[in-house]
Amino acid sequence: MEDFLPGLVGELRKCACLPYYIRENEKRYLSYKLHQPSLSWEEVITFVNIGLDRPFYTDVCQITSPNQLTVLINKYRRLPRDFIPGDLEPIDDQCSEGQMLLRHQARIAFEVMCCDARKQGIELKAISSFRSYVYQQQVYYRKWTEGMDIDQYQAERDRVSARPGHSEHQTGLTVDINDLEQTFENTVEGRWLAANSYCYGFILRYPKGKEHITGYDYEPWHFRYLGKKLSQLVYRSGLTYDEFYTRYLEILM
Ligand code: DAL
Ligand code: ZN
Repeated sequence: MEDFLPGLVGELRKCACLPYYIRENEKRYLSYKLHQPSLSWEEVITFVNIGLDRPFYTDVCQITSPNQLTVLINKYRRLPRDFIPGDLEPIDDQCSEGQMLLRHQARIAFEVMCCDARKQGIELKAISSFRSYVYQQQVYYRKWTEGMDIDQYQAERDRVSARPGHSEHQTGLTVDINDLEQTFENTVEGRWLAANSYCYGFILRYPKGKEHITGYDYEPWHFRYLGKKLSQLVYRSGLTYDEFYTRYLEILM
């Protein structure tokens, strides 16, 4: 701590009462604040706890409770390779393009949401939901061609696709809806989902303007089931799920 100005250390220590303050991370908080002076201390502490002071995919931890409804998957947290949820169920044909699977609760909530949307003239269809580790591996390397530079490939691909083990789709709690284009946000369906999905237990997981936190480009089609209570809290907080989980849920685990 002697490497840092006493004034800065004093400012940080005023935040020591925050429930998500981790004493072992103090030096990282201070270094990050020096690099990102425009961030508030709450942001600095949250971002460092997420792992954002280090490059994506460094210090990755393996998740030990992958079945938890609240599970956070991101570039610092991976699912076990062989994890497949035990309660996957097919989504009703009327709400999906082809055979798609979701975990029981998410499947019911998704079908209810589709049904309510349809009554308002909004047509929603799942176009991708559960994806196994092996399938995600195929998705991630779909654009690979012989002779490509792997670092360059990863730098470009990482913005739009999760590396195997790091996709929320492997939880069986995530669904891509209708269209994989960012213009989806301007369609009636995209707008309806952004405004109403939280009432059914879903959150927009990769919002616009939060790419530096989620590590992904804006995905107006990608929704994560959290259950109604939690999705409302996350929606109202205006935080990404990475931030929300790190501030309010991780400390309860
Ligand atoms: N497109 C999202 C980030 C995934 O691959 O899971
Ligand atoms: Zn997705």
